[in-house]
Amino acid sequence: MASEPRKPVVAIYPGSFDPVTNGHLDLIERGARIFDQLIVAIARNLEKDALFPVKERLEMLEAVTFELKNVQVAVFDGLLMNYAREQDARVILRGIRAVSDYEYELQMAMMNRKIEPQIETVFMLPGAAYSYLSSRLVKELARFGGSVKGLVPEIVEERLRAKVG
Ligand code: PNS
Repeated sequence: MASEPRKPVVAIYPGSFDPVTNGHLDLIERGARIFDQLIVAIARNLEKDALFPVKERLEMLEAVTFELKNVQVAVFDGLLMNYAREQDARVILRGIRAVSDYEYELQMAMMNRKIEPQIETVFMLPGAAYSYLSSRLVKELARFGGSVKGLVPEIVEERLRAKVG
């Protein structure tokens, strides 16, 4: 008996991406190698405390993922699991840098599983060079005149300079 053709696995990598860092990009590249389609999804809910408006975060993410053909960038409102169902996604991709990330990620993954048991959260580790990197620290560094070279893509470096430099 012929087996059914495998359905492409759609994964969502959600986050604030305020702004995208080289650590995020590293995870996106790793995810794109494993999943058939990867949707990098910016949460609009968290806009009020953000440095960059959603439109600018979207532009930066689109620019830095342009060459990854199975990656698309999108914005979602409300609950992640509702959005994941709409996209027919089977996986939520999240990065874990250090043990300190684990507790928050565990809570979120378990809550998401309660909302939608059919969707699995998959954790991946970014490259060791990015294990200390976060958007929050990048913004702080830029605000106080530190160099963010090598921590964020060039387009982000320019936009950060324009915004806080
Ligand atoms: O980059 P972040 O801030 O760690 O991303 C957090 C994010 C956007 C993934 C999370 O806050 C989220 O999924 N927000 C949407 C609302 C939701 O579904 N929350 C989780 C279940 S209560």
